[in-house]
Amino acid sequence: MAPRSVRTAAVAGKRVLVRADLNVPLDGARVADDTRIRASLPTLRLLLEQGASQVLVCSHLGRPQDGPDPKYSLRPVAARLAELLGQEVGFVESGATAPAGVKVAVLENTRFHPGETENDAGYAAELAALADVYVNDAFGSAHRAHSSTEAVAHLLPAYAGLLLERELAELGRLLGAVERPFVIVAGGAKVEDKVAVLQHLGARADSVLIGGKMAEEVRGANPFTFPVVLPADVVAAASFAADAEAHVATVDAIPAGWLGLDIGPATRAEFARHIAGAQTVFWNGPLGVFEWPRFAEGTNAVARAVADCAGFTVVGGGDSVRAIEEAGLADRVSWVSTGGGASLELLEGRVLPGVAAIPEG
Ligand code: 3PG
Repeated sequence: MAPRSVRTAAVAGKRVLVRADLNVPLDGARVADDTRIRASLPTLRLLLEQGASQVLVCSHLGRPQDGPDPKYSLRPVAARLAELLGQEVGFVESGATAPAGVKVAVLENTRFHPGETENDAGYAAELAALADVYVNDAFGSAHRAHSSTEAVAHLLPAYAGLLLERELAELGRLLGAVERPFVIVAGGAKVEDKVAVLQHLGARADSVLIGGKMAEEVRGANPFTFPVVLPADVVAAASFAADAEAHVATVDAIPAGWLGLDIGPATRAEFARHIAGAQTVFWNGPLGVFEWPRFAEGTNAVARAVADCAGFTVVGGGDSVRAIEEAGLADRVSWVSTGGGASLELLEGRVLPGVAAIPEG
């Protein structure tokens, strides 16, 4: 069953607390990537159209360790939200309340309060006192049981926002009866973060293609019970540097001390062939050090193959999302998830606390 939808909420004349995931990269006082802010707009617009008297948006940003830290302030996010919404957006300091006349406001970083990450009932009550209705639209934080994502949902009538609903529906398709062939492409560095999701989904896939640092770890100690396709060749580099001397080598001929920093051309072609024939694709994690042009071609080749695939294609996880966006191909993918850890935990088959706290609709 799905959590009940904000579409069914009676919000006219009510104050609504929206938990969004506005944890975006900042470049000083400027938002470096506003994807998550844009993704929060449909719910905010819906609430305003439905006549909410006040929309208060809360979120965490980064991982401040010791209370308030200006470098993690949501002020730049509020400024960008105002530009995107095309209306004034107020800003509410920690512990303060928004003046009654303010229609939309962003609250200061929830993690400035020590209770937030403890799922503290007292902090949840402070948040609940600000509003009449609670909407959770923070898919990217739904795997966290924090005051603003979990405890507060028990104190106000709680609903799922449009982004949260859509993420659950799109990612949920991968957990149901997928159209075959179902191809998974996994990369990135942190194999331990991805083993559980690959165990859960991989056994149901027709091909599991593994590249990046993860491929080396799997080659050394394969934790999987199903067959995986590992790179046959790599772009080998003499050192871990953007301008390192580099050449293509088969995996059994990498010079001693050299590092495989990208998948090689034979592997790119092999991965692209699997993806081209797929009806369903899930891609998580870059295939090399794509931040450095010399080692980006494998990740870009996978991005192009996923974009060209006519089937249902999903990209999840921060770095692969960044890669498909930088390649200008995000709008040619069926669904680009705003969740990193949350999408992985959902696809592991786990119940997300932020979702479980909302009554079913
Ligand atoms: C994310 O970026 O994955 C989410 O915003 C969650 O952030 P967190 O890992 O700091 O809880």
